Amino acid sequence: MEIINGILLLIFCIGIFWSFYRLRRISRIIAEAQKMESVGRLAGGVAHDFNNMLAGICSAAGYIKLHLDKDSELHRYVDIISDSCTRASHLTAQLLMFSRTASDSTMRIDVHAGLEETIYLLRHGLPPDINVEVSAKAQKHIVCGYPDAFHNLIINLGLNSRDSMPQGGTIRILTDNVTLSRSEIKRMVLPASPGEFLHLCVSDTGSGIPKEILSKIFDPFFTTKAEGEGTGLGLPAVYGIVKRHNGTLKIETSPAGTDFHVYLPLAPADSKLPLYHARTSCRLPGSLNYRILIVDDEPVLLEVLKAVLEEYGADVVCADNGSEALEIYQDSPESFDLIMLDVIMKAPDGIAVYHVLRGISPCAKVVFMSGYNEDTVLNDILQNDNNAVFISKPYQIPDILDKVSRLLGKN
Ligand SMILES: Nc1ncnc2c1ncn2[C@@H]1O[C@H](COP(=O)(O)OP(=O)(O)OP(=O)(O)O)[C@@H](O)[C@H]1O
Ligand SMILES: [Mg+2]
Repeated sequence: MEIINGILLLIFCIGIFWSFYRLRRISRIIAEAQKMESVGRLAGGVAHDFNNMLAGICSAAGYIKLHLDKDSELHRYVDIISDSCTRASHLTAQLLMFSRTASDSTMRIDVHAGLEETIYLLRHGLPPDINVEVSAKAQKHIVCGYPDAFHNLIINLGLNSRDSMPQGGTIRILTDNVTLSRSEIKRMVLPASPGEFLHLCVSDTGSGIPKEILSKIFDPFFTTKAEGEGTGLGLPAVYGIVKRHNGTLKIETSPAGTDFHVYLPLAPADSKLPLYHARTSCRLPGSLNYRILIVDDEPVLLEVLKAVLEEYGADVVCADNGSEALEIYQDSPESFDLIMLDVIMKAPDGIAVYHVLRGISPCAKVVFMSGYNEDTVLNDILQNDNNAVFISKPYQIPDILDKVSRLLGKN
C-alpha cells in the first residue's frame, strides 16, 4: 500500500512539475509575442512619419534634377541626396516588414523567378571572394505573398551571410518541397499549420552564430556589429515576413557556417491572385496632358508633386484634406482624369475619400500613396479595382511619373 501511495505521490509531483514547466514556457512565448507586437506598432508609427519626411526630400531632389543642365556638376550631389533617401527608406522598409504592415499587396510569387531577380541584386552587394550557388529543386514553387517582403527576406539573409564571411566563402541558396508534421513544426521558431511547404534554405560557410546569442537574434535592434554597421533589424524583419506568409523557420549553426531554413506554404492550386512579374524599368512620360487632383496633408509633398506633374503638362489641383478634396471633386467629377490620394489623413482618410469617389465615378483612376498602411483594406481595394494603384512613400519621381502615365494610358 505504501509503495502505491509513493508511486501516486511521485506521479502527482511529476504532473505538477510538468504543468508548471508548460505554464512557464507558454507565458514566455506570450510575453515574447507581446513584446514583438508592441515594438512592431511603435516601429510602424515611426516609419510612417519618417517616410513622409523622406518623400519630401526625395521628391524635391528629383525636381531639382529635372531642372539641372545636362552637364551640371550638381547632378552628383543630387544623386547623393537621392541615394541617401533610398538607403534611409530601406531602413523604414525593415521597420515596416517587422511590424507586418508593409504596404505591397498579396500576389502569387514564383519563388524561382523572384530568386533570380533578387540574387541579381544581392550579387551587387557582395565582394568578389563570395560565391553564390543556387540549387532550385522545388517542383512546386508558387507561394502567396508580398513580393517586396520576399525580396527583403532573401536580401537580409544573404547580407547576414556576407557579413559572417569577412574572409570570403560561399552562399548557397536551395529550394525544395517538404511536408512538415505538427511535431516537426513544434521545434521551429514560429507556429504554422502542418502541410506541404516550399523550403528555402540560405546557407553560408561563415563563422556561425554563438550559442549564447541564439535566443536574442530575433530581438529588434540586437546586433553584434560595430556601431553604424548594423541596425539589428534584419532578422526581426525576416521573422515578421515569414509570419506574414504563415510560414515558419529554423536555424542550424556551427562554427563552420549557418543554415537558415524558411518554410512557406504553397499557393492553393485554385488561387486567383495575380502573378507577380519581375520589375520592368521605368519610363518617363512624354507629356501628361491631364487634369489631376492631389490630396495630401503634407504641404511639402503637395507642392513638389504639383510642380513635377505641371512640368509634364498636367493641370493640377491640390487639396490638403479629404473634405476639401471631395468638395472640389463633387463640383466637376468629369473634369478630372486622375486622383492621387494620401492614405493616412485626418478623417476622412484616403480610403473613406476613395469610397465616396467610387460612388460618384465608378471608373475614376486613383493612385494611393502611403508610407504605412493597414494592408487588408487597401489590399482588397487594389485587388478588386483595376483603376486603382499604389505607390509607397518615399517615392522616386521617375517611379511616380511611370505609374501615373501607365494608369492614365490604360483604358
Ligand atoms: N548568417 C549568420 N552568421 C553569423 N551570425 C549571424 C548570421 N545571421 C545573423 N547573425 C547574427 O545575428 C545578429 C542579428 O542579425 P540582424 O540581421 O537582425 O542584424 P544585423 O545584421 O546585425 O544588422 P542589420 O541586418 O540591421 O544590418 C547579427 O548581428 C549577427 O551577430
Ligand atoms: Mg542583418
